[in-house]
Amino acid sequence: MKILEASNYEGMSRKAANIISAQVILFPRSVLGLATGSTPLGIYRQLIDWYQKGDIDFSHVTSVNLDEYCGLGPDDSQSYRYYMNTNFFRHINIRTENTFVPDGLAEDFEEECRRYDERVSALGGIDLQLLGIGETGHIGFNEPDDTFDKMTHQVALKQKTIEANSRFFKSPDEVPQYALTMGIKAIMQAKKILLVANGPKKADVLEKALFGPVTPEVPASILQLHPDVTVVADSEALRVI
Ligand code: GLP
Repeated sequence: MKILEASNYEGMSRKAANIISAQVILFPRSVLGLATGSTPLGIYRQLIDWYQKGDIDFSHVTSVNLDEYCGLGPDDSQSYRYYMNTNFFRHINIRTENTFVPDGLAEDFEEECRRYDERVSALGGIDLQLLGIGETGHIGFNEPDDTFDKMTHQVALKQKTIEANSRFFKSPDEVPQYALTMGIKAIMQAKKILLVANGPKKADVLEKALFGPVTPEVPASILQLHPDVTVVADSEALRVI
């Protein structure tokens, strides 16, 4: 595991964007696993800037997102599909048909999860998976549990996650209680993983994830077993190291 420290959020975003852009420049047909949340926003801004300067071409890239809230559609400003469209896809030349996010409005969630797993395997897996980390230690929406969930599945969000994510909603009551998330197996099968974190709120959980026991109680701790993980974090998130 490589750990790169940045002095602040901008530095973290630039270092992480460098890793993604190197992947796309060297392998234009890459499958990128993408993440939402506030942490990756600076990365997407940086990549858009480099795209606008003509430094990166996304026309052959495919993207697969980690998760989506159940009940929210692409036009809902809180959905992850909406987030990806407005914060990234709309500003670059990726083809819409090559961007995949679980369907939060699917009539049959089990079927949607199965279809999503098939899609990821049909693409040949993920070349580079970007991950944030939730305060519960979740990656995607793989919440603490007794076992590591393997495949894409529906998950009931923990109260702490609902509270943390309520900052994007008018009130905690509006945060969906369920989500669809890619499982740990698909994440672990990614050839490379890039985990990003910033701010003091992530310090405790980052220490547990990187140096604590590997346990489904801290889902991100499984990353210790992956052969190619780069962590890019600011000094506040890395303060305990
Ligand atoms: C959500 C997402 C995660 C993300 C986490 C942290 O729960 N499902 O993929 O990593 O939030 O978000 P933030 O980056 O805003 O702290």
